[in-house]
Amino acid sequence: MEHLLKEDLINFEALLEKAKLQGLDYLQHLPKRKTSTVVQSITNANLNEEGIGGLETLAQFKEKWESQIVGASGPRYLGYVVGGTTPASIMGDWLASIYDQNPQTVSSQGDVSVQIEHATIQLMLDLFQLPNDFLGGFVSGATMSNFTCLGVARQWIGKERGLDFAKDGIQGDLNILSAVPHSSALKCLSMLGIGSKNYTLIETIKENREAIDIQDLRRKIESLNGAPFILISSAGTVNTADFDDFKAIAELKVNHNFWWHIDGAFGGFAACSPKYDHLTEGWDKADSITVDCHKWLNVPYDSAVFFVRKQHSKLQMETFQNSNAPYLGDPSENFNYLNFLPENSRRLRALPAWFSLTAYGKKGYRYIVENAVDMAQLFSNFIEETEALELLAPTRLNNVCFTLKSDASQARVYAFLDTLNKSKLVYMTPTKYQNSFGIRASFVNWRTNAADIDIITSEILKATAHI
Ligand SMILES: Cc1ncc(COP(=O)(O)O)c(C=O)c1O
Repeated sequence: MEHLLKEDLINFEALLEKAKLQGLDYLQHLPKRKTSTVVQSITNANLNEEGIGGLETLAQFKEKWESQIVGASGPRYLGYVVGGTTPASIMGDWLASIYDQNPQTVSSQGDVSVQIEHATIQLMLDLFQLPNDFLGGFVSGATMSNFTCLGVARQWIGKERGLDFAKDGIQGDLNILSAVPHSSALKCLSMLGIGSKNYTLIETIKENREAIDIQDLRRKIESLNGAPFILISSAGTVNTADFDDFKAIAELKVNHNFWWHIDGAFGGFAACSPKYDHLTEGWDKADSITVDCHKWLNVPYDSAVFFVRKQHSKLQMETFQNSNAPYLGDPSENFNYLNFLPENSRRLRALPAWFSLTAYGKKGYRYIVENAVDMAQLFSNFIEETEALELLAPTRLNNVCFTLKSDASQARVYAFLDTLNKSKLVYMTPTKYQNSFGIRASFVNWRTNAADIDIITSEILKATAHI
């Protein structure tokens, strides 16, 4: 064996111990970790001939990069929709790397990783009050979950017309309806060959809402004259966490022929709390649902699940089957994840989720969701009370969308945000809501507490005084 590999094999315990201590140092000081950094661009990175071994590599990483790693999993990182990492999820994530499984099949000679994935999906369905008649699986993020679900929906439309799009490619126009699709859903339409522009916009309810206007949806359905269509609906729009009326959509499904997809990347977690589960009422009737795990489940990147009704499993297999690899056998005979989702190879993403769900249970996740909403509300109250700021929309759940009260031009909003983020104590990202430039603060991290809100509001006041 090559001598550095041999040395590292002998020193495995010492290597992991050192890495653990470095990781612990990050985690224990996470609330104090800076939330942004200025990095130099990389020029001329050459691979050394000899290698330096694990210990020296860790030392080099520490010297070169570690101090620049930002506290993205910390309590005041409110940009995008970025969750943190619960202690148990990190245990599971470490072990997922160590066991290095590739969950594919449940055959008797396979490994147990698919059973772990199936068991985790059951726990997730229970957490979200969804019935057992969904087939679920882990993918890298909500984008890939949307892709998986919409891929099966595309095959469904083809079959409704007697065509097999998976085999023969798309023929004719597809009818896609949506009110406020997340950008990732449009990216999926592009990746699926449908085209990101090729959807019909449904009107939203008036009065500052992002939810589907059911009357307009009815009108759009009538105009299709019975042609099958895909409806992309939202459990939590990214700007204002608005929810479509799932009970009304479920009723429409009784008399109309459509595939109903729900993007619940973060908003699906409303189902974890009796205070907010009315928002997801009726979502159990959907054909497919997207939920992100690296957001409100607070497991490490990257992780999300798709749920597709088991009655559509044949369509799902037609969409993703590896039909020309004889060594994989007949896809309809033995269940194999590689015939049900885009990736043929995946890490055991279910393990961090299984650890976290098992460790903290329904009560733990109820707390995580309710605490995040309380923190969003505290912050939202501050915006309402601050002369220089205003909400762009009412705070409905965990995302607060706000802007500068006088002169919310793009330049001024960006300058404000730049000053705020330069504090390195808080991080937020810009957005555009109904043609207004603004800022979105998303609360999904399990660690955020009232003391963090004090720090955030104090930094905001400094930034408003600065511009
Ligand atoms: C509603 C919604 N859908 C999809 C996504 C895409 O998620 P990911 O980045 O995990 O692919 C996001 C991310 O913020 C989201 O908020």
